[in-house]
Amino acid sequence: MLVDLVAVAFWTMLPAYVPNNAAVLAGGGAPIDGGRTMGGRRLLGDGKTWRGTAVGTAVGVVLALALNAVAAEVGSAAGVDLPTFPLAAAFGLAFGAMLGDVAASFLKRRTGRERGAAFPVVDQLDFVAGALVCTAILDYGWFAETFTLPVIAVVVVLTPVLHVLTNAVAYLLGLKDEPY
Ligand code: CTP
Ligand code: MG
Repeated sequence: MLVDLVAVAFWTMLPAYVPNNAAVLAGGGAPIDGGRTMGGRRLLGDGKTWRGTAVGTAVGVVLALALNAVAAEVGSAAGVDLPTFPLAAAFGLAFGAMLGDVAASFLKRRTGRERGAAFPVVDQLDFVAGALVCTAILDYGWFAETFTLPVIAVVVVLTPVLHVLTNAVAYLLGLKDEPY
């Protein structure tokens, strides 16, 4: 059923969704690129920091472990079979999400977009691509079993919607400078 599929997709992606938001709250401090430039533009920019990346990854991993603890209970209450996250998958989802976002900033700078500029589609799906690729590399068996084609399809449709909504809320709360 579609509702079950959406529930599973959302649950599975939570450890990839939360890191970016945690990074927004934790951001600041030294930028990853150390101020270096490429072709006259910043490699990544001040928006990608060590602290934001580390805290975002840690929060995603801890969230995955917390979800593991309640998966059976929540799953049976909701009547869906929810996956649990092996540590490698938890790390792959969380760190991969951050890495995808960093890669997007690299692309943004190369295409002349200043820090904070919108890059539609890339902004909404960079962390999904990073999370899926990283997880597939770190635990292919779990990835193949969990991210079936229908789940991936739902993730690709659902994520931009959730991303736009959460960023709009973060903007309205004054946590983010732009609503995207
Ligand atoms: N952030 C961080 N480290 C990361 C990702 C995000 O510190 N790896 C923090 C930064 O404070 C950043 C904020 O979260 O400004 C918002 O993230 P994002 O929208 O991804 O960055 P932008 O500042 O918009 O920069 P960019 O144009 O490079 O995406
Ligand atoms: Mg931004």
